[in-house]
Amino acid sequence: MADVERVLDQAGLQNPHVREYVRFWAGVTEPDRIEVVDAADDDRLVAEALEAGELRPAGEGLYYSRSYVKDTARSEERTIVATSDPADRGVYNNWHDGDELGAAQLERMRGQSRGRTMYVVPYLMAPPGSPLEAYAAGVELTDNRPVVLHMIRMARVGIAHLDSLEDPASFVRAVHVTGDLPNLGQGTPEDQRYFVTVADRRTILHFGSSYGGNALLGKIAHGLRQACYDGRASGRFLAEQFMLLGITDHETGRRYHVCGGFPSASGKTNLAMTLAPEALGERYTVDFYGDDIAWLWVGDDGRIRAMNPENGVFGVAKDTNEHTNPTALRSIEPGTGAIFTNVAYNPVTQEVWWEGKGPRPTDDGWEDWKGERIADREDGDTAPWAHPNSRFTTTLANVPNVAADFEEPAGVPVDAIIFGGRTSDREPLVRAITDLAEGVYDGLTLGAEATFAADGLDGQLRYDPMSMRPFLAYAEADYAAHWLKIIGAATQQPIFAHVNWFQKDLGDDGDGHFLWPGYRENLRPLLWLVRHQAGEVAGRRTPVGVIPTAEELELVGLDLPAADLDRLLTIDVERWRQEMGFREEHLRQFEGLPEEIWEAHRRVAAALDAEAG
Ligand code: GDP
Ligand code: PGA
Ligand code: MN
Ligand code: MN
Repeated sequence: MADVERVLDQAGLQNPHVREYVRFWAGVTEPDRIEVVDAADDDRLVAEALEAGELRPAGEGLYYSRSYVKDTARSEERTIVATSDPADRGVYNNWHDGDELGAAQLERMRGQSRGRTMYVVPYLMAPPGSPLEAYAAGVELTDNRPVVLHMIRMARVGIAHLDSLEDPASFVRAVHVTGDLPNLGQGTPEDQRYFVTVADRRTILHFGSSYGGNALLGKIAHGLRQACYDGRASGRFLAEQFMLLGITDHETGRRYHVCGGFPSASGKTNLAMTLAPEALGERYTVDFYGDDIAWLWVGDDGRIRAMNPENGVFGVAKDTNEHTNPTALRSIEPGTGAIFTNVAYNPVTQEVWWEGKGPRPTDDGWEDWKGERIADREDGDTAPWAHPNSRFTTTLANVPNVAADFEEPAGVPVDAIIFGGRTSDREPLVRAITDLAEGVYDGLTLGAEATFAADGLDGQLRYDPMSMRPFLAYAEADYAAHWLKIIGAATQQPIFAHVNWFQKDLGDDGDGHFLWPGYRENLRPLLWLVRHQAGEVAGRRTPVGVIPTAEELELVGLDLPAADLDRLLTIDVERWRQEMGFREEHLRQFEGLPEEIWEAHRRVAAALDAEAG
């Protein structure tokens, strides 16, 4: 077995708690070698991964990787947040007793890294100097080199982050063991995979996957689940699956910050990377802060402040193209070090392709995401070349419109909090909500169609509170109360809004097209929102919030059919009244929900009834 002490000495890793942790887990998983990782090791690790065939070249400084065919998305039913307090049991966190589950997971991992290297990856999920830095440090132990390369892109990696710990023992212990992927019974009753966060021990134990959403522990398990728990345990912050962007109006000189939650694969990355619509000229610019996670707290100035704890983007490849997301394409150009996962690959030309990237190339030499040659396909085989959840991974610094102050420790003040999802009917383009309890209520009742980012759920309609359903760490009622407390403590409350880019033409003679063009045009409803907050546009009051009039919405250069626009800005009262019954059932699951939330629900229901007459 590896000489742990010597390796840690050589790396200059002195923190005795980290050393003890590495020693302990090396004893459990029994790797052949141990290596301490710094971001500066990237070039060498990439070269090794290319040599080992784990990565393949995809252009100058671009890389291609493929995951095991049954390991392409997060697995929600195998994911558990455990603690020692049964009161933490929620509807969605699959709560288990932490001691019991931690012990079982340890047994599952025993000896499973034999023959492999254990990489020690110290990381920080915060801009250095953040007031929340105490909750941000972690050390991932992983036996998977591509996971290390993803971590280097997605988090701030290096042992220096361990030196600045105020309490040297307070880092998240994040253990990732890949397991023998072809023999884990994925999706069968004998499934061996477990993705466990023992939140009150600040310990993450993931076994049985090397897919990013299951294996990049800084991002998903620490940045969301652990931080969700810590935010409440400390009483200090919220950790949410939110994008975060800035809008500058160069005519007025005003600057706004908007954050918000959309379920996975529902548009966060595209919105955060968006550019102002071309037709609006140079008046507005959009700054990128984050596309998947935001931590929110009350700043010294009394305002809600937010920051992105990540250092990179793990974006959905499908439909990323020059029209939908030119910013994303610039961030994965040659020289960026980007990694593509589970897209189609051409080993001869070293190109990558995905559905919606552009015209489909001719079959010559191409392989689909499984590595099967397209030329060998049977006639009529129309399976996508890229997996629908194929991804690109790149660092924030590669994003052309990343905000100049994206690493500002004090974060940015939040003007608006938005929720949205894939909803093909009922939800208008945007509705603004000024009341805090109604805003939190709206987040809790976020309902959307599920996507390919989670296994086996595509297209199913389901509630996803604040888009945190896969990441909630404790009971939903307490989560709602914590939200009311944190946002309620601000001296200047952000406005809330619900947005929907995905309403479809589903009428009797409708063709199912998206009513709203989406992508860059999504800035228009956001501009309306911040103007509404500033009192510049009144909107039209409805039972479910204030919606823009057609005159108020900036529509210059947009050629929308009048009927579509009308539908986008209309409330279907009967459909909404039906929805209220579903919501009541949904909320009833959360025992002890704050009375303010129920009051908000009843207010909205009564207003809808009054509207129906
Ligand atoms: P995220 O997973 O929430 O970050 O979502 P992404 O921004 O990666 O988008 C997921 C999928 O939805 C991609 O295939 C996008 O092309 C698509 N998408 C994103 N924004 C829009 C939009 O405004 N309209 C439509 N129709 N599709 C969108
Ligand atoms: P997404 O991020 O929200 O961009 O899809 C990854 C995930 O949530 O699995
Ligand atoms: Mn996400
Ligand atoms: Mn995303």
